[in-house]
Amino acid sequence: MTDLTTRWLGLDLHSPLVVGASPLTDDLDALKACVDAGAGAVVMHSLFEEQLIAEQMAAHRFIDSRINTDAEARSFFPESEVFAMGSSSYLKRLEQLQSSLDVPVIASLNGISPGGWTQHARELEDAGASAIELNLYDLATDPSDTATTLEQRQLEVVGSVVEQVSIPVSIKLSPFYSALPAFVAGVEAAGARGLVLFNRFYQPTMDLDELELSREVVLSTSAELPVRLHAMAMLFNRTTLEMAASGGVHTGDDAAKAILSGATAVQVVSALLAEGPSALARITDEMNQRLTTMGYTSLIEARGALSLDNAPNAQTWERLNYARLLQGWQSSGRTS
Ligand SMILES: Cc1cc2nc3c(=O)[nH]c(=O)nc-3n(C[C@H](O)[C@H](O)[C@H](O)COP(=O)(O)O)c2cc1C
Repeated sequence: MTDLTTRWLGLDLHSPLVVGASPLTDDLDALKACVDAGAGAVVMHSLFEEQLIAEQMAAHRFIDSRINTDAEARSFFPESEVFAMGSSSYLKRLEQLQSSLDVPVIASLNGISPGGWTQHARELEDAGASAIELNLYDLATDPSDTATTLEQRQLEVVGSVVEQVSIPVSIKLSPFYSALPAFVAGVEAAGARGLVLFNRFYQPTMDLDELELSREVVLSTSAELPVRLHAMAMLFNRTTLEMAASGGVHTGDDAAKAILSGATAVQVVSALLAEGPSALARITDEMNQRLTTMGYTSLIEARGALSLDNAPNAQTWERLNYARLLQGWQSSGRTS
């Protein structure tokens, strides 16, 4: 058996598998079941930047009632009044989770503009959060907002959250940065401890019959994982920030791939919402079996083995290989 212990954000975890930010925050029994099934830590859903609360909560409540899953999966969803939580109920929930669960509880803030709201980070620390995950969920819609101004603003937010607290802060990013390593260097310089790669955007689709936009959360599939693997493989050993995968982890092989790319922790949400807490036990067993079969006795040995720095054929991660791949493509879907 592979030793699955890991250290994420300075916290000793018995497993790298972490319950990611989700409405499960609202369901203590489900979270206890996740911990019994092997979760190494739990991330709460986000507390949003004050000035966005009304709008974002309304959006989430709307989205949450339209989650695109079958009836069986839906039964695993807690009722979603949690998205209406203000900061005082959030703090109470944090205290409750912290005292009821045997694993670290990580609070989550979601915001993009520097300001007084970042002071809430201190309350989260006081209420017992083991760490803070800061989600920089940003959508540039104003043509005068350049990548530079947007990124500088985000780094200011990182700096002001970090300066409020003595607990570690991880930053959850979107996949859409033109120069991710440079931005990550800025996150590191601003004092963060870890990265969560990546956010998913919940994009509106179109209802052509009604000629309107319709928003719904479609749960992820494993197809969303490779963009995370690529980013982690590229960043491994090139940043001191620890990395957690978030997005597309549904099987033990998905989790093993995240570790081999350089992840210290692996967050899971969609699999839990679709399958229930037992998904964690299944993913843990599958991952353990896979890593053990590969000959790894610990996660530390496996971490980053297929990163850009370490993979035997690391050029596969790079552009040249992409060009060769496209040129060699045959209609069978295989390359020559
Ligand atoms: C219904 C739902 C609610 C979510 N709420 C939050 C949230 O409050 N804060 C956050 O940072 N991420 C939130 N997420 C995103 C997840 O934490 C995770 O990053 C994303 O679902 C990708 O992981 P997965 O493929 O395992 O689902 C939410 C996801 C879902 C499906």
